[in-house]
Amino acid sequence: MGVSGQPLGFHAGFRLAVDGLLRRYFSARLPKALSTMNWDQARKLLHRNSDSFPGGPEPHPGSVPTRAGMHRVRGGSLCVASGKGGTGKSVVTASLATLMSRAGRTLIVDADMGVGNAHILQGVAPEHSFVDLVEGRCGVRDIRATCGENLDLLAAGSGVSRMAALSSWEMHLVAGGIEEIEGEYAHVIVDSAAGISNQTVALAAACDLVLIVTTPDITALTDAYAFLKVLFMRSPECAPLFVVNRASSFEEGVQVAERLCGVARRFLRREPRCVGVLPDDRAVVRCVNSRAPVVAREPDSPFAKAVTLVHGRLQTELSREAGRGLGQSLLRIASEH
Ligand SMILES: Nc1ncnc2c1ncn2[C@@H]1O[C@H](COP(=O)(O)OP(=O)(O)OP(=O)(O)O)[C@@H](O)[C@H]1O
Ligand SMILES: [Mg+2]
Repeated sequence: MGVSGQPLGFHAGFRLAVDGLLRRYFSARLPKALSTMNWDQARKLLHRNSDSFPGGPEPHPGSVPTRAGMHRVRGGSLCVASGKGGTGKSVVTASLATLMSRAGRTLIVDADMGVGNAHILQGVAPEHSFVDLVEGRCGVRDIRATCGENLDLLAAGSGVSRMAALSSWEMHLVAGGIEEIEGEYAHVIVDSAAGISNQTVALAAACDLVLIVTTPDITALTDAYAFLKVLFMRSPECAPLFVVNRASSFEEGVQVAERLCGVARRFLRREPRCVGVLPDDRAVVRCVNSRAPVVAREPDSPFAKAVTLVHGRLQTELSREAGRGLGQSLLRIASEH
C-alpha cells in the first residue's frame, strides 16, 4: 500500500481504511450496526441520511432553504478553527459554505476580524467590514456582502490588529449584529482566527459545532491539542470534530488522526472525532489564486471530493444540534466579561 499516496489515491485508500475508521470515529454517534459495515454499506447509509439534510427531499424542521421562503429563525452554526495559523481553515470554510449554500441560505462570518480573507476566497470585495460595525459607522445589514445566490458574508477588516481583542461593548455589537440577521439563514459558518485567544475560543464555544483543521505537521497537531484543551476548559459539553488537511495520503491522515485522538484521550480524558482527511492538492492553490472555492472551480479535484464527504458528515451532525443561536450565545458570553 503506497503510504506515499500517489498510486493508491484517496478513494482507494478510503475503501481500504474505512472499516477501522468508521468503527473508531463514528460508532459513538451512528447506529451500532454501522460499526460492522463495510464501505459500500456505510456509504449507502450516509447517502440515505443525506436525504433528510436541509435542502433534501424532506427538509430539516429547522432549515430556511431559500430567501423567499423565510419562516424559520435560527440556523445551525459551525466554527472552523485551528490552533496554528495557515492550516487551511479559510479554504475549508470557502468550500463548506458553498456546499451548504446549495441546500439553504448560508452566512459566512469572517471572525479573523482584523486580517480576514474569506472575501478573497469568495471572489468579492466588500465595501464594509466588522471594523465599520464596531466603530459605529454601519449596521450589520450594511456590512453584509453577497457572495452567491444563497451565500452572504460578514467580512473582516484588513490590517486592523485591535480587532483581535474586542472590548466587551464591541463584542456586544458584533453579537447583536449576528443575532439580528442569523434567523434569515439555514447555516452560519465561522471562519475563525488562528490561536487560542479568549475571543477566538469564545466564538468557537458559542457555535453549535466546532471543526478543527489540522495538518500532519507536529506544530499544527500540538496547537490543535492546545486549542482542544482550552475549548474543553471553557465549554466542557463541547464535542469537537476535526479534519486532517494537506495529507499526502489517506493513510497518513488516519495516522495523524489517531495521534491527535490518542494524546487527547490520554491527557484530556476526552477526544475529538475525525470527520475526514483532505489531501494536499495543487487544485487548492490554483483556486486560491483564482479567488474561488475549490468545490465551485474544480469540483472533480481530490480536495473537492474529500471536502464534499466532510460536508455530508457535518450536515448529519448539524441536523442533530438544536441550533442555540450564535448571536444569543455570544451575547451571553460578552455579558459575562
Ligand atoms: N489541501 C491543501 N492543499 C494544498 N494547499 C493547501 C491546502 N490547504 C491549504 N493550502 C494552502 O495553504 C494556504 C493557507 O490556507 P488558509 O488561508 O485556508 O489557512 P488558514 O488556516 O485560514 O490561515 P490563517 O490562520 O492565516 O487564517 C492556502 O492559501 C493554500 O495555499
Ligand atoms: Mg484564514
